[in-house]
Amino acid sequence: MLNTFQQASHPMLPVSNHDEAARQEFAKSLKQFVQQGLLPGLAPVFTQRAARAFEAEHGRAPTDRREIRQVMEPDPYFQHYAALNRIAQELMWNAVIDPVERQLPALIEGARHWSATTRAELRMDPDFVPPRYVTALDIHCMPGGYASEVAPGDVSVAALYDRGAYLYGMGFAGPLNDDMGRSVCNYVQRQLPGFKPRRILDMGCTVGHSTLPYKTLFPDAEVWGIDVGGPCIRYAHARAAALGVEVNFAQMNAEQTDFADGHFDLIVSHILLHETSGKAMPRIVRECHRLLSPGGYAIHADLPPFDLMSPFTQFILDNETWYNNEPFWGAMREIDQVQLAIDAGFPADSVAFATAPMAILESTAAGAAGYTQDATSSVAEREFTAGEFAPGGGWEVLVARKAVQA
Ligand SMILES: C[S@@+](CC[C@H](N)C(=O)[O-])C[C@H]1O[C@@H](n2cnc3c(N)ncnc32)[C@H](O)[C@@H]1O
Repeated sequence: MLNTFQQASHPMLPVSNHDEAARQEFAKSLKQFVQQGLLPGLAPVFTQRAARAFEAEHGRAPTDRREIRQVMEPDPYFQHYAALNRIAQELMWNAVIDPVERQLPALIEGARHWSATTRAELRMDPDFVPPRYVTALDIHCMPGGYASEVAPGDVSVAALYDRGAYLYGMGFAGPLNDDMGRSVCNYVQRQLPGFKPRRILDMGCTVGHSTLPYKTLFPDAEVWGIDVGGPCIRYAHARAAALGVEVNFAQMNAEQTDFADGHFDLIVSHILLHETSGKAMPRIVRECHRLLSPGGYAIHADLPPFDLMSPFTQFILDNETWYNNEPFWGAMREIDQVQLAIDAGFPADSVAFATAPMAILESTAAGAAGYTQDATSSVAEREFTAGEFAPGGGWEVLVARKAVQA
């Protein structure tokens, strides 16, 4: 596959030998073939074959994603697509796990070393119990999930995620896998001019990919990343230190954190909510309301709700629920998130969906000389509409502002 961007090397990233790197490139290329070679064939298979069969049987066209799935599942083209997609995902993790296991003692030692070099806080909780929706299965087939620990000071699943996320995104998240954070930073700069948060919280930060751009944009702010995965938090802290960015990390549950009321002016999350649960999501939104100072903003970046997409697009994206160990993926997109925020205490006129254009596409569209880490770099302006989603161009953001006066 023609590479978009190579992943930026940093001292915490596991090093792959020649054979491991070749297998990883193969898995990435296979993913690209599935996305760009097979996926486009699903629409004509549906309209010209499956939908006609449904109409012949029912006297009407299929109307929603469930009926579309019903007619597509028996189709050999769809079966071929879905099976290969799953195989590519499993191959990808298999190709990354070897270098992680081979270098585990060095990775653990590296995390200790780099964490000791920074003034930024690392808060681990030895009694912490991660929620069941994180531990019950390996989300998106990642071996061990986010919270497994196989040794004291373990960082293995985090190292696996760091490399795997790059391959999964086929490089489109940029060399530091930080496109979501950079995109929301651009959104904040444009839509909230003059907003200067003193304290920023990134919920469900994993290894801090999206967290670091906030410190770049607001160097004077106190920035925190929290996650339920202990290895993720250790790795995130060490990775940030190794990259020379002073960000604090804590092992905490976003449903109920240890921070004081009103501590933060800006709370963000990036693809966190769809990996939680129907009970956890309202709690997280309520916790955001509690943690925000008056006039503060919560911005949750994810893919759009189903009602902003065609039934066929819903069907395609919902394959994550069916074949990629993402049990809450589809259900989350049916929840009325605006109402959820209102129920949590945000004023109705302060809650809305918007689209944050993908920073990486904007910087390439602008013809910028290569990729730049600077979130303040010049970007091409373009109007995006709610409902666009990466890789179509932008991240969907649920934006809610706490009332200025109680
Ligand atoms: C898809 S990853 C998020 C990726 C990350 N935000 C980024 O931009 O690179 C989801 C993360 O949310 C974490 N998570 C899930 N439920 C959580 C909760 N209740 N509180 C904090 N973190 C949670 C998981 O452990 C996992 O690391």
